[in-house]
Amino acid sequence: MKIKTITQTFAADVYQGLKSNPKSLMSKYFYDDEGSRIFQKIMRMPEYYPTDCEYEIFDTKADAILKKIVPYNEPFDLIELGAGDGMKTKLLLTHFLEQKADVNYMPVDISEEAMNLLTNDFKSAMPDLNITPFVGDFYDALSKIQHVDKRKKVYMFLGSTIGNFPHHKAVSFFRKLNKYMSSGDMFLVGFDLKKSPEIVLPAYDDPHGHTAAFNLNLLTRMNRELGADFNLGKFFHYAAYDPITGSAKSYLISKESQKVYFEEFGEPVLFAKWEPIFMEISQKYDMQMIKRFAGDTNFTIMDNFYDSRNYFVNSLWEAK
Ligand SMILES: C[S@@+](CC[C@H](N)C(=O)[O-])C[C@H]1O[C@@H](n2cnc3c(N)ncnc32)[C@H](O)[C@@H]1O
Repeated sequence: MKIKTITQTFAADVYQGLKSNPKSLMSKYFYDDEGSRIFQKIMRMPEYYPTDCEYEIFDTKADAILKKIVPYNEPFDLIELGAGDGMKTKLLLTHFLEQKADVNYMPVDISEEAMNLLTNDFKSAMPDLNITPFVGDFYDALSKIQHVDKRKKVYMFLGSTIGNFPHHKAVSFFRKLNKYMSSGDMFLVGFDLKKSPEIVLPAYDDPHGHTAAFNLNLLTRMNRELGADFNLGKFFHYAAYDPITGSAKSYLISKESQKVYFEEFGEPVLFAKWEPIFMEISQKYDMQMIKRFAGDTNFTIMDNFYDSRNYFVNSLWEAK
């Protein structure tokens, strides 16, 4: 079978995901340049409340956050994993520089276009900022950044990106991150909190069609990069929220029984009528879950910063 010669991770991950039952794709592959552009549109829709919540937290609590992360005004490296367009971080950094904080900023993202846009934007808005972008996967970045210097490290993981990890992967992400950290280093992580399903669901099933376009774009990416022949008109986007588990999940559903061919693979992928591809989880949390995460992965919770509606929390953890 041809897959054995495929070394590219994208092809191998897609092959494995589409040959599984149920079929699934990894959400990190959403973010090609077009995917990143569509995600910026999602973040600007009124239905996508997490952006507004985190923006409000940074707008109103930047000073409290700074005092907690560097109580003695010590120099530090701020490493942001999955920085995206950095819109909210810009607010935080502007305040940190006004307070004369000695901060080096290191944004990390898998999307080269997002990193270029962020770097140009931040350099023109904050000419004094010391910024070192890294294009690549979180884990590659962590192993390289760990040794850059001996300053205190403060890691950030915003936008509830952690919610895109199933529970066991979130735990292993926190454990791995903790291993790269020194005792006293800090971690600011955004969690989307459980709330009314009537608020959660429209964030993933919007009337503008941006979330549908975001999901379908991964089919376009497979057509382009893996020589697949997905007909986008034969799939539709479906999202559901389970208020018991707190998970919002999105799927692409095959409208008919069909075969999809990939130049990269030796055999077609078969879809039954109404068969779903599981695309992404966006987990919602309560404080018990957050405390358990920190306790189980060698962190101490130093503080929690909420928005005024208690929809979202930025939890500040210290590595033991
Ligand atoms: C949900 S968005 C959040 C963006 C930003 N942090 C915010 O709060 O607006 C996730 C970001 O993580 C990036 N990303 C996803 N998986 C990644 C990976 N494995 N390594 C590096 N970046 C990744 C995406 O390109 C995207 O910019």
